[in-house]
Amino acid sequence: RYEKGWLFVALLFIVGLVATVVYGAVVAGVDMVGDRGGALANPQDPTESPDFRDPGVYCNDDRSSCDVYVLARRFFFQPGTAQPIRVPAGSNVTFHLTSPDVLHGFEVVGTNVNVMAVPGQSAVFSVTFDDTGEYDVVCNEYCGSGHHTMEGRIEVV
Ligand code: CUA
Repeated sequence: RYEKGWLFVALLFIVGLVATVVYGAVVAGVDMVGDRGGALANPQDPTESPDFRDPGVYCNDDRSSCDVYVLARRFFFQPGTAQPIRVPAGSNVTFHLTSPDVLHGFEVVGTNVNVMAVPGQSAVFSVTFDDTGEYDVVCNEYCGSGHHTMEGRIEVV
């Protein structure tokens, strides 16, 4: 007697899941291209690696593409928290993400961007933000006492 009910619930769940994925892709116009990362020379200190020596946003002259080097660390994003990550709309933005301490998350709220920052590893993924706007970035891996305060911001200009 209950089978139909459960089937319905399961169906609802699946539809919800698909809707979430589609919503994320449509709303932000985000395309993720991933898995081009790799191991860092010195896991204890990513800033010894040339990529992460000076974390920040680096765009080419016509701003059609940018590289963003981000350290996720207890308990902030660098850049992202103290100053926003500012990127141009329509630009092909390649993020390079790592952590100098423990596992963190890098979730761009309202999009399908949700990547782990793994100590000693560089996670590389590309995102195009079609429209101007602001996005919150949150850490979604428990990383210690300040986990719930670990937030950042992306400004698409
Ligand atoms: Cu960083 Cu939770």
